[in-house]
Amino acid sequence: MTKKPQYKRVVLKISGEALQGSLKHGIDFNFCEKLALEIKEVCTLGIQIALVVGAGNIFRGAENTRRLGMDRSVADYMGMMATVINGMALQDILEKVGVPTRVQTSIQMHEIAEPYIRRKAIRHLEKKRVVIFVAGTGNPYFTTDTAAALKAMEINADIILKATKVDGVYSADPLKVKNARKYKTLKYIDVLKRGLKVMDATAISLCMDNKLPILVFNLNKHGNIKKALLAKDIGTVVK
Ligand code: GTP
Repeated sequence: MTKKPQYKRVVLKISGEALQGSLKHGIDFNFCEKLALEIKEVCTLGIQIALVVGAGNIFRGAENTRRLGMDRSVADYMGMMATVINGMALQDILEKVGVPTRVQTSIQMHEIAEPYIRRKAIRHLEKKRVVIFVAGTGNPYFTTDTAAALKAMEINADIILKATKVDGVYSADPLKVKNARKYKTLKYIDVLKRGLKVMDATAISLCMDNKLPILVFNLNKHGNIKKALLAKDIGTVVK
């Protein structure tokens, strides 16, 4: 018997880095097509999906401020523009595999995408369209993780699925520390106190204040999005 999904509406946060797949930068269209097929499968379960994409595969705002001394606002606006490129690529790939989508941008650019309108986003989701939110929150100094938290709150999502390269949240970087321990669940406050790298503090605080759970899981394992939504025992839940 197929297990029933436990969520009605979710926000899937995909980092820009994830979209680069096996490449060093840019968009790995083969990887993204596999991702699109996974999203398509999840849509058939009747789950409403909104995507928030990052931009690290194209441009990293905060890093360029640190390394090159760029003005933080300028760098962040460039990062937000890069999320638009990623969102448009995802839209194209998803629609090619038969998933209807709408891109909504937090920085108005009418020729390219419709503006972010909360009620319209919800309507698209109800009409079984995947909504791709781009341009972060529209403000510098906020990450795309914070944008994901904010949008999730606004559209009354049940959870944020935070896609990463590792299986969950560990006591130390599992790629560097051999005996790093994976947490099954964590409290928001512990993530903040211990400085665990789940999402930035603003995003975590927003989720904490509004009791929105976050599931951190590995996007690189095929089928994990579906498993996450069917409450199969994967990743780390922050709640
Ligand atoms: P329904 O009203 O539920 O049928 O939704 P819809 O999105 O199909 O209707 P609408 O007429 O608003 O949009 C038709 C197409 O135009 C969709 O692909 C939208 O994403 C796109 N669209 C809507 N508003 C804008 C905009 O301001 N700019 C751009 N570039 N596209 C837009």
